[in-house]
Amino acid sequence: MSETEAKNILITGGAGFIGSHVVRRFVKNYSNYHIFNLDALTYAGNLENLIDIESYDNYTFLKGNISDEDFINKLFLKYKFDAVIHLAAESHVDRSITDPLLFAKTNILGTMVLLNAFKNIWQDAWSNKLFFHVSTDEVYGTLGDVGLFKETTPYDPNSPYSASKASSDHFVRAYGETYDMPYVISNCSNNYGENQFPEKLIPLFINNILNNKPLPVYGDGNYTRDWLYVQDHACAIDSIFHNSENNETYNVGGFNEWKNIDLVKLLCKKMDEKLSRPIGSSEELITYVKDRAGHDLRYAIDANKIKNDLNWYPSVNFEEGLSKTIDWYLSNKEWLDNASSGKYKDYYLAQYGNK
Ligand code: NAD
Ligand code: DAU
Repeated sequence: MSETEAKNILITGGAGFIGSHVVRRFVKNYSNYHIFNLDALTYAGNLENLIDIESYDNYTFLKGNISDEDFINKLFLKYKFDAVIHLAAESHVDRSITDPLLFAKTNILGTMVLLNAFKNIWQDAWSNKLFFHVSTDEVYGTLGDVGLFKETTPYDPNSPYSASKASSDHFVRAYGETYDMPYVISNCSNNYGENQFPEKLIPLFINNILNNKPLPVYGDGNYTRDWLYVQDHACAIDSIFHNSENNETYNVGGFNEWKNIDLVKLLCKKMDEKLSRPIGSSEELITYVKDRAGHDLRYAIDANKIKNDLNWYPSVNFEEGLSKTIDWYLSNKEWLDNASSGKYKDYYLAQYGNK
């Protein structure tokens, strides 16, 4: 899409972790765009993530649910969005195991409601329009010890979360084929960084180390993930949005695989250093607990297509990104305390059996 034309852009899920970084980047870098951030403010959405940009003239927050068809249709009629960058989702695998229907409702039905509303206003005039669907590498299922996910790897999701994301990807493609809707899909690996809700591995363990609580490593800890700094993901989304051909798919990853247990030990060491605790004290908190049901062994991304076609590459190496991330949580303890209070305590007790 051209950068120079004025546009109304709808970003969904912009009060969440990745969405807030994408919203900030677009609001600050493209004053000719008006950015509408639509978010239901579930437990994972937090407007504090965007305090620094809330008074910008080219930014509007809209509270609402993507599954609410009537509301969404009216919104599209009113604002005539030229493009949608769709991030709103239920995003935590563990929660999808206990409440799979919510994941189907938000991730599948919610995506369809958006696709349909977009189709209804533009189906005879698709020029310079785009539906950008932000998805996950988990749609590909699991890898063994070797190999990488490519854009051509067949979908093989294993969790209710990944099945719901895979299904939403299929609907996006189907709208492209059936109604000529211009779309792009990105499938990214594990993000980490500022503002991530403390249910996910890295912020959960930072929070627990701060509070001297056990670090619950699932199974034997020999599961592998590829980690990408969240602002590098936001940069990849920007690059795909502006430079991709229509109807392309890009895998996005950090070229940065870690076994969970090795990552946790590195995190423990860094936390000891930053908190001036004796080296080794955080590691003593590591506790091996019951494994996640259907736990995918390994995710690893071949991100060479976006690297070669769009000249995108992660700018932050893992040690540096992890350090920045820890520093942010240490400087934002109130944010962390607020995020881990209230209903989160019930979730934690149900998930881990302790407070
Ligand atoms: P998140 O859980 O931090 O944020 C999700 C946001 O969506 C929240 O602000 C929430 O309030 C909002 N939301 C949830 N249900 C909604 C609904 N029905 N209507 C409107 N808003 C709703 O998620 P995240 O980690 O920032 O992930 C964002 C997107 O990126 C998701 O689509 C996810 O599948 C994808 N993704 C995440 C990662 C990762 O590592 N976190 C990696 C690859 C892809
Ligand atoms: O790969 C991209 C995906 O990465 C995104 O689509 C998801 O939205 C995002 O949540 C993330 O999924 P994971 O399941 O990989 O992330 P999580 O942080 O939950 O877990 C990372 C690894 O750590 C995984 O192997 C499970 C393990 N783990 C996680 C938690 C919360 C533990 O060992 N203990 C824990 O308490």
